Amino acid sequence: MRFLLSSVAALAGFSVVAGAPNAKRSSDAPSAGTSITSGESIPFNYVDSNWCHEGYTPITMWLSEAAPTGLNATGDLPDGTYIEYFGRYLIANFGLPTLQPVPPSSITIPDISSYPTGSSLYFTVVETAQEGTCPGGVNHPAEYQFTTVPLTAA
Ligand SMILES: *[C@@H]1O[C@H](CO)[C@@H](O)[C@H](O)[C@H]1NC(C)=O
Repeated sequence: MRFLLSSVAALAGFSVVAGAPNAKRSSDAPSAGTSITSGESIPFNYVDSNWCHEGYTPITMWLSEAAPTGLNATGDLPDGTYIEYFGRYLIANFGLPTLQPVPPSSITIPDISSYPTGSSLYFTVVETAQEGTCPGGVNHPAEYQFTTVPLTAA
């Protein structure tokens, strides 16, 4: 349910994700409605909510034709449901030294020429709380949360 709420909140253009008190979505990029073209490089920035208070937060980024409705067991968009996977990166929390790979400051839009001008494509960031890092113990399984913004094919 949290996944769904986050996704719906992002789609509706709210700047704060319900239920994620540490979320600071306002500086996230790209923002909803950003116009994109094939091969274009657009700014990327993601402020993690880090609900498990871990030192490093893994994130993955995806572009899809439809807004994702869920993730598979490993926290990925299921095979066949996305156009592009932009990779997995680590956000350093609490002022810790960075660890590679650090998130890029821009992402490159793949070939989207088959999508009509004005159509929406969906950019999703999946944030992971790694196994054993959430308050409550070392046996805590990994948790995933995702936020999605619609982008507009130009
Ligand atoms: C989840 O999806 C990713 C990419 O779509 C795939 O590589 C991975 O094997 C999938 N995991 C499971 C458990 O199906």
